[in-house]
Amino acid sequence: MNEDTNDIYRRGLSALMQSSALINSSLQTADVLNYAMKAAEEFMEAEASSVYELDTEKGEIFFRLARGEKGGIIKSRRLKPGEGIAGWVIQSGKPMVVEDVQKEGRFSDRFDRETGFKTRSLICVPLTIRGKTIGALQVINKKNGVPFTEEDTELLTALAQQIAVALDNAKLYQRLEENFELTAEELKITQRKLIRSERSAAMANLVQAVAHEVRNPIMSIGGFAARMKDGLDKNHKFRKYLDIILQETSRLEKLVQDVRELSEMQTVYLQPANMNNLLSEVIEGFSPIMSRESIDLAADIEENLPTITIDRAQISRALKNIIENSIEALPTGGTIELKAWTVDSHIRIIVKDFGVGIDEDKFDSILDPFVTSKATGAGLGLTMVYQIVKNHQGEIDIKRGSDRGTVVALDIPVNLKSEMEG
Ligand SMILES: Nc1ncnc2c1ncn2[C@@H]1O[C@H](COP(=O)(O)OP(=O)(O)OP(=O)(O)O)[C@@H](O)[C@H]1O
Ligand SMILES: [Mg+2]
Repeated sequence: MNEDTNDIYRRGLSALMQSSALINSSLQTADVLNYAMKAAEEFMEAEASSVYELDTEKGEIFFRLARGEKGGIIKSRRLKPGEGIAGWVIQSGKPMVVEDVQKEGRFSDRFDRETGFKTRSLICVPLTIRGKTIGALQVINKKNGVPFTEEDTELLTALAQQIAVALDNAKLYQRLEENFELTAEELKITQRKLIRSERSAAMANLVQAVAHEVRNPIMSIGGFAARMKDGLDKNHKFRKYLDIILQETSRLEKLVQDVRELSEMQTVYLQPANMNNLLSEVIEGFSPIMSRESIDLAADIEENLPTITIDRAQISRALKNIIENSIEALPTGGTIELKAWTVDSHIRIIVKDFGVGIDEDKFDSILDPFVTSKATGAGLGLTMVYQIVKNHQGEIDIKRGSDRGTVVALDIPVNLKSEMEG
């Protein structure tokens, strides 16, 4: 197995998630950049980093900020598109890895001369949002002196996607603040929505990039461990270690499989569906587990709900994930209420349980991947629900129950806007 891949894996999905959550936790451009560069340096084990922004109006590249352990922040500088390495990356929209800057004609040592910093190697990747390049992110000098790898580039590209979303949100918010006189409360709500919007999807992409990287190594670890176990004597003391390896690899394989399923959710197959049938089927599917777990599922569903155009399998899946969470929140049994009715131009579905409830500090992040309070949970259930609701231009709201437990409300529009139908 390739050691670099192993390395990426070791650096940890969960740490990556945390930093990308941080990058997306603010709408102040300066904060976003600061967190982003710190994360880039940490994950790439780089000595320094810099961000470039394209000013489309002036046709110039704005050298936003550079930072590194040795301190020294370079303030704004300007480049022409195509000029230097960042200029090339922004113009072409392609990443560039330079093992030795001395051998790269596009490298300019202008900044090095000013700062006294010595650039040896670098990776520069474009910051892209909705197919448009808005800037570039560069990390400089891998710490132990070795060159950057292909895997570093992939990871940095995935991270750049997060950063682009965060930057874009920050700018949009800035424009909103400037152009509208919103009340503090309105601003707060907009801010929350903006942070939420696209963050979850971009995170899911990041997770997919990492899952893709670790799939093959996991398979070889599992495969070789199984062969080693076959070759060992029945009472050999290493058998129990191999069993642990096999258990853990199969857990990881399942995780990778879940992530793959999440990425498949991005494709939607729309068809007219009878919601009363769909809801009955979902409820029916749970009846064995409900009686086993002593849970009472009380359904209150409006008769003759309108036929709506949805991806039937996806909406069922979303409801199942929500109900599963409620079941898991009721370890000693209890009641789950499922209600559905028409409100204006959408169908509202509410799943309410009287279980353990969601911790206050988790509320903001439960839709993000890998956020879980369960020993065996992947933390992908609600990420998937969010993706599905977004696919249907719907809304999701998760609240604490008035007394205890949790209330999840979904609003699914009866008529999707036509762009969805294409
Ligand atoms: N009805 C609920 N009651 C209490 N906590 C909940 C409820 N729904 C979600 N949560 C909290 O939100 C977390 C994230 O839920 P999510 O469905 O995304 O992942 P998971 O259930 O932990 O794992 P997975 O669904 O991938 O098996 C849960 O771990 C739990 O802490
Ligand atoms: Mg779940």
